[in-house]
Amino acid sequence: MFAGCAFQHEKPYPVFAPDMHYNPSLKAQEGPAMRTPPSGTVPRGFRPYTYPNLEAAGKELKNPSPRSKAVFSQGKTLYNSYCIVCHGKGGEGDGSVVPKYPRPPSLISEKIRDYPDGSIFHVITMGQNLMPSYADRLDPEERWAVVHYLRALYRSKNPSKDDFKKAEGYVEEDQ
Ligand code: HEC
Repeated sequence: MFAGCAFQHEKPYPVFAPDMHYNPSLKAQEGPAMRTPPSGTVPRGFRPYTYPNLEAAGKELKNPSPRSKAVFSQGKTLYNSYCIVCHGKGGEGDGSVVPKYPRPPSLISEKIRDYPDGSIFHVITMGQNLMPSYADRLDPEERWAVVHYLRALYRSKNPSKDDFKKAEGYVEEDQ
């Protein structure tokens, strides 16, 4: 049903131009409200995003993408194209635009760990304060892939026992 728009894996990732994102003079016009088309003008194939806040999105939205190698690697490519300049390679808020641009919060925090996938999807879709919306740059499938990648980033810094067990040579320790 979404053939032709939802699965454009081959499209080239645009070169990131930081000035487009954090020019403060653009902020007033860039709020999510301005992006909502008036009713009756929704283009074909465009599904309006209707979740009012990240709590609602977190409760109702489920990540439809599998946790497959392909999805993680897509998420990594997208993260490294769109998010890394502010959030940093490991998600710690130490991107290259900092400190010229205010340091964003860590994405490998317990707060984000405890967000449902839908809440993270909501922030990427709508933006949040200084964080721009990515709704027009990443299609939903791409946003979900980035969410999966953020989970992987978190686990890479906070490996679970299971992650260790998968590693070769792991020896169970008494706690
Ligand atoms: C231009 C810099 C910039 C870029 C690029 C950017 N962010 Fe952000 N992000 C921020 C800032 C600043 C905040 C803090 C917003 C606030 O004060 O609420 C933030 C907040 C967030 C949060 C919520 C963190 C929290 O603790 O509330 C998430 C999740 C997030 N960003 C994910 C992403 C992802 C994923 C991308 C790439 C698709 C991305 N960001 C791209 C600047 C950026």
